Amino acid sequence: MTTIFTEIHNLQKPPVYKYFVGNQWLPSASDKHIEIHSPIDNSIVGIVPSVTKEEAESAVESAKNAQKGWEEMLVHERVEIIHKAAALIKENADILRDLIILEIGKPFGEAEEEALRTVDLIDYYAEEGRRLVGDVWDSSAFPGYKKSKIAIARKVPLGVVLCIPPFNYPVNEGAPKIVGALVSGNSVVLKPSTQGAISSLHMVELFRQAGLPPGVLNCVTGKGEDVGDFLITHHLIDAINMTGSYETAEYITKKAGVKKLLFGLSGKDASIVIADADLDLASDEIAKGSFSYGGQRCTGIKRVLVEEKVHDEFVDKLKKVVSKKYKLGDPRIKENTLGPVIDDKTAIYIKELLDDALGLGAKIVLGGRFDGRYLEATILTNISKRMKIAWEEPFGPILPVIKVKDWQEAVLVSNESEYGLQSSVFTRNIDTAWAVANALEAGSVQINGKDARGPDHFPFTGFKHSGLGMVQGAKYLIGEMTRYKTVVMNIKP
Ligand code: G3H
Repeated sequence: MTTIFTEIHNLQKPPVYKYFVGNQWLPSASDKHIEIHSPIDNSIVGIVPSVTKEEAESAVESAKNAQKGWEEMLVHERVEIIHKAAALIKENADILRDLIILEIGKPFGEAEEEALRTVDLIDYYAEEGRRLVGDVWDSSAFPGYKKSKIAIARKVPLGVVLCIPPFNYPVNEGAPKIVGALVSGNSVVLKPSTQGAISSLHMVELFRQAGLPPGVLNCVTGKGEDVGDFLITHHLIDAINMTGSYETAEYITKKAGVKKLLFGLSGKDASIVIADADLDLASDEIAKGSFSYGGQRCTGIKRVLVEEKVHDEFVDKLKKVVSKKYKLGDPRIKENTLGPVIDDKTAIYIKELLDDALGLGAKIVLGGRFDGRYLEATILTNISKRMKIAWEEPFGPILPVIKVKDWQEAVLVSNESEYGLQSSVFTRNIDTAWAVANALEAGSVQINGKDARGPDHFPFTGFKHSGLGMVQGAKYLIGEMTRYKTVVMNIKP
């Protein structure tokens, strides 16, 4: 335990964490807590408060009270504080990395990348915040009007933003939500995913140490079913920015009332391999796209649609790359590039998907052995549309490869999904690449590269059940965190 984080818990083993309101770390008054167990070995990583409604209320009120002052602060002063937070995250990246590994089982290299990528993300968002400008309109452009009115439409903050990041990127999905809101003058209530909460609490402490005024950022922990309804329906919450499942988004939409909603949701991303593709490149990229963090990424490639002419050759190459690259084991050990899935429920679900597919004739090309939460990287072929694995999102290391006649069929199968997050197409023909990219119903299409959200200034959104609004891309997310306020100057003739 390092000294820089002594305020956020009770210094015991395992540490009992506090919640964060008005720049103070407060112990749970009700003594209601949740144990966070590591998916690696079930050991207790720490214990977090299950906040009461009164504690959640204090977080929302604190954010509300702080927001105006924060909005009125000079932009460059806000930007400096945010840069300071990035610098502190950089200094403490190894601590965050180790926590991410322990708390969510992310492999060493990827956990390190998450921490360091967040530093660059925050710095970039801070700079983008400087460039938040509105529009000027002249009435003489509209029929029937003279040069008599000038409208100045400024981008102003929404107010209090409730940020709900997912378990799989507790730091890197939390950071853009926090910084996108803060840099444009909003205040924040952060409700981290329960698994991942400890990594989030450490990041929050670094924001405090960077010098955020009290109440600008608050953080409460607890299960969605206990504190979620209270927060999403709260009349002082102006916007909700959540990454998670479509079901949760649908629930929030029905419950929240009139609030701005931003959602980054699930996907069943298809990667399409055309017969003329560079199959070495395709197999390498698709391996990374499917099996990094054991397939537990919203943008993970969750099915491959490959033209029949090159199916066998591609599968052979993919099998070789995956078996070489993905070594299953304790993710604290650098050499292990595939750790456990997040919980038993996920492991059981993936096993059911596998059994369903095998029962309907799928073949295992690689992997297929499961030991508790530790699942081998698994590739399946002989996939038919009747199988659940063709449509459902496993969020684990299992990849169905589907044979198609041509790219038109691939596009049809891809678009049949209820999701539309990302897709990718591998081909040497620019015309085919364009035709496929154009026809796919997805927020982004990668040409000759794996599906991925980053770099973190690129626009990122999901179509259909995969999202609502621009959930990332510095300029876009900051824009979503504002609304226009128009002042019209009526000019005397
Ligand atoms: O899990 C959802 C993330 O937004 C995916 O991000 O493409 O950087 O892994 P990534």
